[in-house]
Amino acid sequence: MATPLVSPSILSADFARLGEEVRAIDAAGADWIHIDVMDGHYVPNITIGPDVVKALRPHTDKPFDVHLMISPVDAYLEAFAEAGADIITVHPEAGPHVHRTLQAIRGLGKKAGIVFNPGTPVDALDYLIDLVDLVLVMSVNPGFGGQSFIPGQLDKIAAVRERIDRSGRDIRLEVDGGVNADTARQCVAAGADVLVAGSATFKGGPDRYAANIQALRGGD
Ligand code: DX5
Ligand code: ZN
Repeated sequence: MATPLVSPSILSADFARLGEEVRAIDAAGADWIHIDVMDGHYVPNITIGPDVVKALRPHTDKPFDVHLMISPVDAYLEAFAEAGADIITVHPEAGPHVHRTLQAIRGLGKKAGIVFNPGTPVDALDYLIDLVDLVLVMSVNPGFGGQSFIPGQLDKIAAVRERIDRSGRDIRLEVDGGVNADTARQCVAAGADVLVAGSATFKGGPDRYAANIQALRGGD
């Protein structure tokens, strides 16, 4: 099985020391940095805005994988792009016009991702595949870290993998929510190549980050 990339979600980091935490996961081998943006409207939680993304940018050269859980979303794309996002991922429900939103992300010179909630079918991908660089399958309902992996989403990962392979395009397949060393293996077997992990990366404190990331990759 191919080795997946690991994108630790800083939602589980110590928010009082975020810059330090980002440097620590960078040094521990994180491939990307996953930043969960929540608005208290599209999801029940409120987290990070563009100013925080901008403040974190000098702390690492790793790609910022920015997961927007905000609605409406279009008005904020430019701010996150300017703050230093490399990949911007949006929910079709955050609309109103996801095709236009993906075009706008591309227009800002950033990689565009689409994310499917556990209850959302992936059929829309057939009409959007030319516009995406990443597909994110949520394996929990969005809003909080530390939830349990929903095993039914493994079939969805496999279905998305099939669509990506059929397209012949260079598209990453990422999974987010309840990913730990065990569920990571199942996700990779189903076709995922990027793993988001909050709790499983940050558990045990900075001395454990490198081992935690290695375990997610499938190593010891
Ligand atoms: C949930 C977020 C996730 C979350 C993952 O809405 O999108 O990125 O932080 O946290 P864990 O890995 O703890 O499930
Ligand atoms: Zn996320």
